[in-house]
This record gives sequence, structure tokens and C-alpha cells, in this order.
Amino acid sequence: MFITLFFTIFCLSTGILSSSLPPGFTLPCDISDESCINKFANILLPHLFTGIQDLEIPSVDPLYIDKVIGDISILKYTFYNSTIVGFKKCKVSNLKLDKEFTKLSYDLICPHLIMTGIYDITGRLVLLPVEGNGDFKMTSGKYFIHVESELKTTKGKTDKIHAHIKNFKLKCEPQEPLYFDFKNLFNGQKDLSDTVHKFANENWQEVANQVQDPLFYAIMKRIVTISNKYLKHVPLEDILRM
Ligand SMILES: *[C@@H]1O[C@H](CO)[C@@H](O)[C@H](O)[C@H]1NC(C)=O
Repeated sequence: MFITLFFTIFCLSTGILSSSLPPGFTLPCDISDESCINKFANILLPHLFTGIQDLEIPSVDPLYIDKVIGDISILKYTFYNSTIVGFKKCKVSNLKLDKEFTKLSYDLICPHLIMTGIYDITGRLVLLPVEGNGDFKMTSGKYFIHVESELKTTKGKTDKIHAHIKNFKLKCEPQEPLYFDFKNLFNGQKDLSDTVHKFANENWQEVANQVQDPLFYAIMKRIVTISNKYLKHVPLEDILRM
């Protein structure tokens, strides 16, 4: 009886441990050991982005976002019911963390992102007037996202220290061509629609510069939410030696 109970508790606790710490993770990293922390981040990221059921962390790949509003002086757009695929393939590099645990910066490099949904757009795309609503699909090659965050630490229920991401700033840059496919631009007038598509596909860097920020801020908000949920469950001492 006691043995069974002990065994059950043992299995439960190791079960919880193995699901919150990613498979392949061995020992906590020293906070000054950047290469260890970068390695850990790349083990954690696909584990976290796929979702962790035991911690009630939903998957962000695919990521569903019901509404993104972009209001950039000359252009207004809304993306409804969007699905973005590809985040679990992103890699972390240049992750830096200060000893006081107040600042975090890293680059997220995503090889291939696909977004589909419903759009509503009006204004000027760089130079060209643009207007319409309907289904859309955007595809990217390599996307570079530089993230800077402020952190704070708090004491959790068990008196252990937990980290929390307070905010973030992004610098996003596509490094390979983007493809835009917006159905029903200008109410389906083919010539006007073809002109805009040709312009956008040829000038993807400029177009990305104009439209990407509201979208990536909405995405990163969700990523920070799940990261904080993870950090609330996993005390810092399990992943870092401070
Ligand atoms: C988004 O999805 C919801 C729920 O399925 C639906 O009610 C709504 O009409 C959709 N939005 C658009 C713009 O189609």
C-alpha cells in the first residue's frame, strides 16, 4: 500500500518535471554562460511553442489571432481570423541576459512563415493606392526578429524565485522575398489588383517595413503570454544558476 502510494507520487512528480522541462535538457545553465543559455533556449522554444498540456500552455504553431489592426498614417488594415504557421521552426541566437535579471535580448530567426486569413485594407501601400477585402495569404522566407525585453523577478508560492517578462520591443526584418496574395482587391478588378501584387512582391522589403509591426507585436504578445505562463510554473533555479 505504502509502496504503491510512494511509487504513484514518484511517477507523478517526475511526470510533471519531464513535461515542464524540455526533453534533452540536463543541468541548469550558469547565468553568465551565454552559449549554454542559447542552447537551452533552442531546446525550450519548440517544446514551448508546441504547447505543454500539463501546464495548460496552448500551442502557438499554428497561432490563431482573431484581429490585428494596423493604422499607419497612410494605410489602415485589419486582419481577421488569421492563422500563422511556422513558429516552432524559429531559432534563437544572440540571447543575452544580465546578472540582475532585468534585461533580456535575443534574435528570433524564422525560416518560413505562412499566414492566412481575411483582410480589410484601405490607403496607400508605399506608393500605390490600395483597397479591398477578402481572403489573403502571405508567405515569407527567412524572417529576422530582434527582441528586447525588461524582466522582473518575484517570489512564487513555494518561495522560489520566478521570472516575468514585463514588456518587449521588436525590430523585424524579412531577409528573403515575401509573397502576397490578396483576393478581391479593388472589388476584383484584375488590372489594379495585378499592379498592386506585382509592386508588393517586387518591393517586399519596403512593404514589410510599412505593414509588419502591428502584426508582429500582436504575435509577440501571445508568445510573451505563454512564456510568462511557463516561467510562473518553472522556478528560475531549475533553469539557471544565478
Ligand atoms: C471570424 O470567425 C468568426 C467565428 O468563426 C466569425 O463569426 C466571423 O464572421 C469571422 N470574421 C470574418 C471577418 O469573417
